[in-house]
Amino acid sequence: MIVQVRWGILGTANIARASFLPGVRAAGGRTVAVAGRDAERTRVYAQQHGIERVHTGYEALLDDPLVDAVYVPLPNALHLPWVLRALEAGKPVLCEKPLGLTAAEVDTMIDASRKTGVPLWEAFVFMFRPHFAQIQAWIAEGAIGTLQEVDSRFRFALRSRDNIRFRPELGGGALYDVGCYPVHLATQLFGGPGLQTAVLADWDATGVDATTAGVVAFKTGHLLFGASLASGRDTFTRLVGSTGAITASNPFHPIDRDTLTLYQGGRVTTVPAGDGTPSFTAQIAHIQRAIRGEEAARGTAATTSRATAATLDLIRKTAARES
Ligand SMILES: NC(=O)c1ccc[n+]([C@@H]2O[C@H](COP(=O)([O-])OP(=O)(O)OC[C@H]3O[C@@H](n4cnc5c(N)ncnc54)[C@H](OP(=O)(O)O)[C@@H]3O)[C@@H](O)[C@H]2O)c1
Repeated sequence: MIVQVRWGILGTANIARASFLPGVRAAGGRTVAVAGRDAERTRVYAQQHGIERVHTGYEALLDDPLVDAVYVPLPNALHLPWVLRALEAGKPVLCEKPLGLTAAEVDTMIDASRKTGVPLWEAFVFMFRPHFAQIQAWIAEGAIGTLQEVDSRFRFALRSRDNIRFRPELGGGALYDVGCYPVHLATQLFGGPGLQTAVLADWDATGVDATTAGVVAFKTGHLLFGASLASGRDTFTRLVGSTGAITASNPFHPIDRDTLTLYQGGRVTTVPAGDGTPSFTAQIAHIQRAIRGEEAARGTAATTSRATAATLDLIRKTAARES
């Protein structure tokens, strides 16, 4: 019986250091192993972060019997091969967003999860946090009438070109990196994939999209989105319904000063959006409970990732055609 889930990380990634490790600690788990391509870099990373087991090469970590679950924060183009190998090794996986580069890749991973019986989650951590439950509850109880529009941006300025986000062969670009967030939010709230889109992309000299913006039609409403690696930081989101609206100052990674505001005619209600824990805590805590058999796995890739991947396919193909 697993009492404390022992995590292993593939790659000495920044996001693992900044968000995953604090999330595991806050959720009562333990990160026991890290694997990297370079032995010395991995050893230093492990030492800096108090990780006891160091593997050179990702395969070795997947073979480690003392690792219960695996976090995959590799460049986007490497998610598919390493998620498949982790599932084959029988380790539940939390993989970074976007889960795959195409809907076909995402389908392959979901099929592998079903065939092996090993659960797979995509790290859209906001879906597990209380502020998202509050948004869903307001919508479900009709607080804004019928949801018509998701208006969502995720933009920031990345100055260094020495970054996986500027490497097309690794799945770089604004749409994959941050555009996937508004798209995921919309697919979850509208309950399915986008059907039609109009998109503008601004291409960087490296070959990735530095900015992608557009509109996506869904069965019951539409998404206005903006994603950029070359703009001032902006994650504002507004959900507009037939009788009201909800704004989120930071819908994807709220901290304690962030808020949700509900507008109903002249009535305005503002509540805190942060929950006092690191952003990854709630999803990691759920995964650990699911691994221990204390609750059924929910929000897995099988139930949430397909519609997003199909919508990203549609946007990418349209952006390529129009540019
Ligand atoms: N959910 C979130 O909030 C969030 C936030 C930021 C990023 N992310 C996602 O997390 C993933 C990693 O992002 P990051 O910013 O942490 O990237 P990063 O710091 O560059 O980490 C990626 C890691 O992948 C490994 N790697 C393997 N092959 C590589 C290659 N050919 N080139 C570069 N690195 C390679 C490297 O580790 P070794 O060399 O040690 O093997 C590297 O440390 C991406 O999928 C990104 O979308 C998610």
